[in-house]
Amino acid sequence: MSNSSEEELIHMFKGIPFTTRSSPELLKSLDAFDAREDDLLLVSYPKSGTHWLAGVIKNLYSAQVTLTSPIEFGDISKLEELNQVSSKRIIPTHLDYNMLPPNFKNKKCKMIYISRNPKDTAVSMYHYYRDNPNLPTVDTWTAFFDLFLKGDVVCGSWFDHFLSWEEHANNKNILFLFYEDMKKDLPKIVKEISLFLGLNVSEKDIQDICKKSSFSEMKSDTEKENSDPSHTVCALTSNRKLIFRKGAVGDWKNHFTPKQNLRFEEVFNEKMKLSKM
Ligand code: A3P
Repeated sequence: MSNSSEEELIHMFKGIPFTTRSSPELLKSLDAFDAREDDLLLVSYPKSGTHWLAGVIKNLYSAQVTLTSPIEFGDISKLEELNQVSSKRIIPTHLDYNMLPPNFKNKKCKMIYISRNPKDTAVSMYHYYRDNPNLPTVDTWTAFFDLFLKGDVVCGSWFDHFLSWEEHANNKNILFLFYEDMKKDLPKIVKEISLFLGLNVSEKDIQDICKKSSFSEMKSDTEKENSDPSHTVCALTSNRKLIFRKGAVGDWKNHFTPKQNLRFEEVFNEKMKLSKM
């Protein structure tokens, strides 16, 4: 974060860096948000496969559903905008569990948390920072690597985010998924999601959904469509091409030096001591 105008892109709320696209007024008012029992939350740390998961889920419903932009993006008018949605709402969020509006918890709304190897997440986020004018400039991978490990990036520390949600992973209304499992066997995960959502989906539908949500299909769909920034899952860019970069597991090996890998492992082992996964 190299100069003051760039620092203006970021502000801190409850110790977590947010972009100024999440207004402080909106963040403050989230606690009062009125959830509905049938709301579905798609939760992730950025660059974990949120768009992929959203693509799968939208295709699972035959009834009308509305995929909104993340609850924390926008200004104070966001809550009213969400109130106006008459169909079932599928709401993405990058919020830490502790910052989630309590109403979602009290009403036991279904929530799907998608996680990804933090090394690949860091690399994906680095490219996103580099190519996105709405985020502070990072000059080198080395500089970004340090920021990521310190949690000095949008949405804060990957470790804190994961741990805050993992603590609730056994709640019946929360489903934990991993990007790598989706890459390995997407039909299996699509079945798991449909079971969790109580949807009856045929084998043929599952195959179609997997085809439609392959990396190449999603990337080419994006290139064809007119993008509306307020309706993208990640409202930090109107350029949806930035979302579909490589879609691979293990790209970290092309970026991490052996020394960085060691350092990452040290921090990971220390921070994740409390993790059961
Ligand atoms: P890479 O930058 O490693 O390519 P998010 O949606 O949370 O912002 O995550 C974006 C990451 O998910 C990007 O990772 C993107 O390429 C990957 N992704 C998006 N759609 C995908 C798909 N259909 N299959 C596999 N990966 C996908």
